[in-house]
Parts: sequence; structure tokens; C-alpha cells
Amino acid sequence: MYDFSVDEALPKPERYRQLIDAAGALVDGERDGVANMANVAALMWDFLPDINWAGFYRVDPEGEGRELVLGPFAGKPACIRIPFGVGVCGTAAATGETQLIEDVEAFPGHIACDAASKSELVVPVQRDGRLIAVIDIDSPHLARFDREDAAGIEALAARICAAI
Ligand code: SME
Repeated sequence: MYDFSVDEALPKPERYRQLIDAAGALVDGERDGVANMANVAALMWDFLPDINWAGFYRVDPEGEGRELVLGPFAGKPACIRIPFGVGVCGTAAATGETQLIEDVEAFPGHIACDAASKSELVVPVQRDGRLIAVIDIDSPHLARFDREDAAGIEALAARICAAI
């Protein structure tokens, strides 16, 4: 049994350190990328309060590198394919930059998979300088994510990129 307890009283950077340590402990030594993404999605779901979706979109190797396809996640069923440049995830993929969106309805082209989502954080995952996936987290609250969340998920992406 895996039991990673979350201490909600800890400051956010420390909680992200715990999330990253737990993710590292789960993915190290396992070579199956789908299993590792599934466990990391489950950990984000457990560790992060006030979210309604957490998971991965992968760069589709069959799609000439210009399309994301849904990967392991926690939350409601979601859109399966997202072209680069479209929506929050596609913008993160096309630019290679983290997207910290306080109000998704104000984001041009936002793709509404779950009407409950109000704010969103999308972080590119790169390996050997190449985009392989994005991590997407949605919240039912406006402005749920800040720079500390972005830095925490960017550090998570760097920690697990070799294992997905
Ligand atoms: N809102 C995203 C689509 C993915 S879902 O949030 C799970 C976007 O605009 O790219």
C-alpha cells in the first residue's frame, strides 16, 4: 500500500517538495511511462486542494509532433486530441511556456472539457530539450494557481520527465 499523507498546514513550496519526493519514489525503477503518469496524476489529485482535474496530455508520436493526445489523469473524462496552438494546453505545447490562467473564460480559444473549471495551470514537460507532454491542472475556483504552484509543477515535470 502506498500512503503519502498530505500536511495541509505546510507552506506551499514544502508541500510541492513532498509531492515531488513522493512522485520520485513512485516512478524511480519503473520503466512503464503510462503507469508512471497514472501514479503522478493520482498524487497531484491527492496533494493539491481545490482542483477538479489533474493529468497529462502527451505529444502524439503519430501526429507529426503537432498534436496532443489525452494521457493518464484524475477527474472527469476530457477532450482527447488538442492541436498545438489551440486552447491552454495547445498554447503551452506551441510556446514551450507555462500557462497560468486565472480565468479560463478570458483565455481566447480555451477548451472547456468540464464546465466547472474556472482557472488552469499547464506546464510543458521536456526531455532532452524536446517537448514530450504537458501537465494540466484545472480548478473550479478563479485564480486558484499562483507562481508557487507553477514553480512546483515545473519542478515536478523536471523530476519525472525521464520516467514518462
Ligand atoms: N482546458 C484545456 C483542455 C483540457 S481540459 O482542461 C482537461 C485547454 O484549454 O487546453
